[in-house]
Amino acid sequence: MYKNPFSKTVIGDDEPLCNQKELLSALLLEAYSGNNNVLLAPRRAGKTSLAMRLARDYRAAGGLATIADLNSVPSADAAADRIATAIYAALSVSDKIFKMLSGLVTAFTPVFTMNPDSSFSVSAMPSGKAKTGLERLVSVVDSLDKISSHSKTPLLVILDEFQDVALLNGSDQIEAALRSTIQHHKASYLFIGSRRKLLRDMFESPQRAFYRGATMRELPLISPSEFSAHLIALANLSGSVWSPAIADAIVDIAESHTYSVTAIAHALYELTMLNSPTELDLNKAITTAVARESSLFTSIYSSLNPPARNLIEALAEEPTKHPMANSYIANHRLSSHATVRKSLTALAEGDHITKSSDETIVLTDPLFKRWLNTKWNSRQLISNVTLT
Ligand SMILES: Nc1ncnc2c1ncn2[C@@H]1O[C@H](COP(=O)(O)OP(=O)(O)OP(=O)(O)O)[C@@H](O)[C@H]1O
Ligand SMILES: [Mg+2]
Repeated sequence: MYKNPFSKTVIGDDEPLCNQKELLSALLLEAYSGNNNVLLAPRRAGKTSLAMRLARDYRAAGGLATIADLNSVPSADAAADRIATAIYAALSVSDKIFKMLSGLVTAFTPVFTMNPDSSFSVSAMPSGKAKTGLERLVSVVDSLDKISSHSKTPLLVILDEFQDVALLNGSDQIEAALRSTIQHHKASYLFIGSRRKLLRDMFESPQRAFYRGATMRELPLISPSEFSAHLIALANLSGSVWSPAIADAIVDIAESHTYSVTAIAHALYELTMLNSPTELDLNKAITTAVARESSLFTSIYSSLNPPARNLIEALAEEPTKHPMANSYIANHRLSSHATVRKSLTALAEGDHITKSSDETIVLTDPLFKRWLNTKWNSRQLISNVTLT
């Protein structure tokens, strides 16, 4: 029995990762050196997979690495809880390390639970030593430094979707408290985020606490030829022969966007299994891959206000360098310059659109573009009409 080799979730420690070798080795060096970095990339570009691989490699070399996911975190208290839990998980590499270092997290105590398969999970319970959510967050971040001081190499702290901290109530105070706690740390921080404008503003705006606090890096797109060869190799491991023409077509249609390529390849393998796919199979797989994202795309679409919906549909149909041009506004029936300007800001903040290398404004997610271009039938089938 073969398994579908195309994983639609974060890539596991023992699964193959395509490329990103240069970035991984640069980030590994930064971790050893105790430096802080920001990694920016659009949604579903492969940020978390890269972070997990970095943590794995850092651990393999004897370091300690912790990853906390701050995606949609609702409060400073919840952020403290997620970071404390991540620290406990990181320290669980050995009993000795856990016993030696977990006591440094004074704002929490670890709670162990036995799972049905006899493995253990760890969670964090407030110890009562810190009174408010903000105090708990500052305390837990401070304990990252204490842990780092006790280990031979800097502790690698990865904070995924870090920009969501900026959306919390009292975020100014939280950012300032975190920055002053982190400033003199021996630990090495990697701040990751997909809402690139928000994250950039946190680190590049002089008014913000994290101003110039880290080196900014972009996650590069995987080169089409490498991605295509990767697809062929994975299909081959699962017993199927994929032609370069099919693999190239997937990467081309999905514009090398990591998740989109993977989702189409996943649907194609499911459809053809051990048989070599044809062009017709590929077309079916693309339709399936787009349909599977429909509920996500519907919720993104309905979360936008009507002018932003109009604009994103226009950009899906006709990417442009000049969305404010009178002809573009008239052709796409957009209401006014002012609303287009506002919508552009909203769509960029949500990271739904981006500028390509030649400054054309395009959608960040090629499957979303395809969905928008095929969702609303501009022609409907009619019957009982005879055209003369
Ligand atoms: N280097 C890689 N090579 C091949 N596939 C990859 C690579 N990195 C990620 N993927 C695949 O791309 C998809 C997205 O990966 P991942 O969840 O790591 O991205 P992300 O940027 O963290 O996404 P999100 O914005 O949802 O948090 C997954 O299907 C994953 O298996
Ligand atoms: Mg992620």
